[in-house]
Amino acid sequence: MRTPALPMIERVLFSEEQIQERIREVAAQISERYKDGNLKLIAVLKGSVFFLTALARELTIPVKVDFLAISSFSNHSGSPGVVRIAKDLDDSIEGEDVILVEDIVDTGFTARYLMQNLSGRGPNSIALCSMLDRSSRRIVPLQIDFRCFEIPDRFVIGCGLDYKQLYRNLNFLAILKPDSQG
Ligand code: IMP
Ligand code: MG
Repeated sequence: MRTPALPMIERVLFSEEQIQERIREVAAQISERYKDGNLKLIAVLKGSVFFLTALARELTIPVKVDFLAISSFSNHSGSPGVVRIAKDLDDSIEGEDVILVEDIVDTGFTARYLMQNLSGRGPNSIALCSMLDRSSRRIVPLQIDFRCFEIPDRFVIGCGLDYKQLYRNLNFLAILKPDSQG
């Protein structure tokens, strides 16, 4: 495992190898479940794109991808609950088997809003796949169909997750030092 000595990191939660291995396991579950389906992965810009590409490369079935962007006031420090689509999908999802791919489900407001919104567009099926689950902070009850890791109630960076738009490109997941947050 690469042990990065970066000043803003308190400790590494999951190494690149641990994440890859877990993504491979979840991708195998998805490949099996959707082997007769018509699968489309949908990710929310920007954070979830990193997870979507890692997951998609491990799938052994044909898959389409599409993206949307939201403006959200739902973050670790802000007031949750207000979500709006800022960039919509390119294509219809009618009749398709859709998996919404999330980087993290925290309070659950973002994922619930998106699952409700996408369900209304006539997909054949819809499921939720999240790399991270911080269920201790959940406000909205939500079923996560595929999940890689449960994490503690600490702010994390890497694997698509940012602090002030930085650190998304770290290929491991780390806890941000509290004194780096301002
Ligand atoms: P929710 O609506 O509270 O579930 O919000 C989830 C969103 O908040 C995620 O998609 C992230 O953009 C952001 N978020 C929540 N926790 C963290 C974190 O620890 N690091 C970086 N972003 C986070
Ligand atoms: Mg996000």
